Amino acid sequence: MILVAGSINMDLVARVPQIAAPGQTVLGHGFARHHGGKGANQAVAAARLGAAVAFVGALGRDAFGDELLAGLRAQGIDVGGVQRVEEPSGCALISVSDEGENAISVLPGANGFAPQPPPTWFADWLLLQLEIPLPTCLAWAQAAQQLGVRVMLNAAPMQSLPPALLRCVDTLVVNEGELTANVGQELNLNDALAHVASQGPRCVVVTLGARGCRVWFEGAVTQLDGHSVQVVDSTGAGDTFVGALAAGLDGGLLMPQALRRANAAAALSCTVAGARGGMPTAQAVALVLALQQNTLAPMR
Ligand code: RIB
Repeated sequence: MILVAGSINMDLVARVPQIAAPGQTVLGHGFARHHGGKGANQAVAAARLGAAVAFVGALGRDAFGDELLAGLRAQGIDVGGVQRVEEPSGCALISVSDEGENAISVLPGANGFAPQPPPTWFADWLLLQLEIPLPTCLAWAQAAQQLGVRVMLNAAPMQSLPPALLRCVDTLVVNEGELTANVGQELNLNDALAHVASQGPRCVVVTLGARGCRVWFEGAVTQLDGHSVQVVDSTGAGDTFVGALAAGLDGGLLMPQALRRANAAAALSCTVAGARGGMPTAQAVALVLALQQNTLAPMR
């Protein structure tokens, strides 16, 4: 069973020819509203792949809150741990370019009041991101460590990670910017992964967008190339990767198999608009893996 303690947002999405530079105005050509938030997205990605998932977080007592809660319930996610608070529900303002790239501004609102861990709780994996306050994340991670629950941390959005948090983490997933924020510019990718791993995690994954991902696991670095897909919207690809990785490990897959599935799931998620629109089922992932046999290759 996977417990996600994290954020939930309403995504307000503008389709634009290119992402506006600072001080620039661009004319868009489409608007959509999608359910989002890194925590909730990862919960949905895992649930779509068949995992049993519970979600803990906070929503406002507003119409967005009602809709977002119903959206999670519809995916079969246990939402008993969601609290309604006197703050607006979280929102994300997202621009998606014609190339499928995105720029996101998050207004956390209610997410700033995500619940602390109760005295007793159960999960096989705890899944955390950094869209709820860092002290709350740390409290959950430390509680998990005491209870023997494995922690997967997606260190997004970019923040410098306190050593006390890294010590609790079994599997860390970051993108290149998030990795650099924690190790600086000087180290190459392999050394950066090894450096972070020396601070606690058993596995460190850096996602590389269309180039796949690179992984430090049990002393070895491997590369998994990206799948080739028609990209419509890359929003939520990282969340799909993390949710799928958690679902695979929770379901008993070994790390290399779980990584291959996560890599394929993330690619598929980019083929449909919205953070959750393209999150695949297990059957869709199996089909891609059968057609494109990407495997982990050792790096020197
Ligand atoms: O990772 C994508 C998500 O980031 C969006 O759904 C948005 O809500 C922000 O949390």
